[in-house]
Amino acid sequence: MSSDDKKLKWFREARFGMFIHWGIYSVPAQGEWAMFYNDWDYNYYDAFKERFNPLKFDPAYWAELAWNAGMRYVVFTTKHHDGFCMYDSKFTDYKITNTPYKKDITAELVKAFRAKGLKIGLYHSLVDWRHEDFIPDPEHPLWKRGERDFKNRDLAKYREYLYNQVRQLLTEYGKIDLLFFDYTSKHKTSAEWDAEKMLELVYSLQPEIIVNDRLTYEKTSKVWDYCTPEVTVPNSQVKIDGVEYDWETCMTMNGHWGYCAQDKGFKSPQTILEALIKCSSLNGNLLLNIGPDALGQIPPGSVNIMENLSEWMKINSESVHGTEKSSHTPPRGMVYTQKGKTLYLHLFSPPMGDVILPELNGKIKNISLLADNSDVPMITHWGTELLDKKEIRIRPPTSIPPMSVLKISLK
Ligand code: GLC
Repeated sequence: MSSDDKKLKWFREARFGMFIHWGIYSVPAQGEWAMFYNDWDYNYYDAFKERFNPLKFDPAYWAELAWNAGMRYVVFTTKHHDGFCMYDSKFTDYKITNTPYKKDITAELVKAFRAKGLKIGLYHSLVDWRHEDFIPDPEHPLWKRGERDFKNRDLAKYREYLYNQVRQLLTEYGKIDLLFFDYTSKHKTSAEWDAEKMLELVYSLQPEIIVNDRLTYEKTSKVWDYCTPEVTVPNSQVKIDGVEYDWETCMTMNGHWGYCAQDKGFKSPQTILEALIKCSSLNGNLLLNIGPDALGQIPPGSVNIMENLSEWMKINSESVHGTEKSSHTPPRGMVYTQKGKTLYLHLFSPPMGDVILPELNGKIKNISLLADNSDVPMITHWGTELLDKKEIRIRPPTSIPPMSVLKISLK
């Protein structure tokens, strides 16, 4: 096992994580880019901090929802692009402990999720709309308002601030398993953050941590441990220059990351489950987002999705956790995940009739329905007529629910 394999082991086994976008942007409730899109000035935006008091925040309940839904790690926004810190930063006053809530939300959240057994990931924005030495570009509110004179800004000072923040996060919150930096746009380069030096710092403080790929725009220099496509399930395992890498796609449950009161367009639990299974079948993970509101409540649409996933996980979780890409070809429209000599066939919808497995001739020990362990017969005859001996035809009950899984034990 290479050192990379060792570090990434838990990540590969987890397959499913919870992303949390939460900050003072949940007060105006229009998503985390609201300041930029609405052209709000700093004073207007800062007032939301005085109204941020999430008295209904119950991290133990969040952790339980996540765990039951099959999520095995969390990635929490310690700071988003607005620059507001959801932890007790020593380097700015623009932080959670200076709101009516007063407490260090990151500390509370980390404690509860860790106690439930989830791995801990921190999201930290490289972009900072608030810091006076961050250099604005077309994705910055000041640029959008027409400002172009940033001569007095000193990037080195911003970098120092960023490093200090990261150092604090990686020393005061116990073992951190994953760091999600966001992001290096086409207007920036990895030199902006001195990516290699940043990684040295990160690895020196948390030797087993894994870091995502957003310290660079071009992914060619490997200053990362895994890749992060966004709101899509790729058609194949993520590859760079012909080499396959570990990856995780992040995904919203509706159309927003941060809480958006108007957006009730939640995706169906089945759609999300299909995405999770497809990710697992391509050696990837799904990082599924929730955007809690300003009181600390998870939107009912998200709770509904997670409760639905929990029901499925109670019976079928082994077909996701610890599985990987299979080298076998599944029947058309279906998906395999694999763990050692066990293949999981994901049917998505109940079958029309018999299912023909395109290969596996002579390789199968037995096949059962994961839900109740009942045998799924292999069909060799039609009446008295012998079917093609090479054809592996099976007969799952047509009455099985959508998203059923067949467990195929190989010899
Ligand atoms: C996009 C969004 C950002 C969000 C991120 C999550 O970059 O602009 O707000 O945090 O996706 O990956």
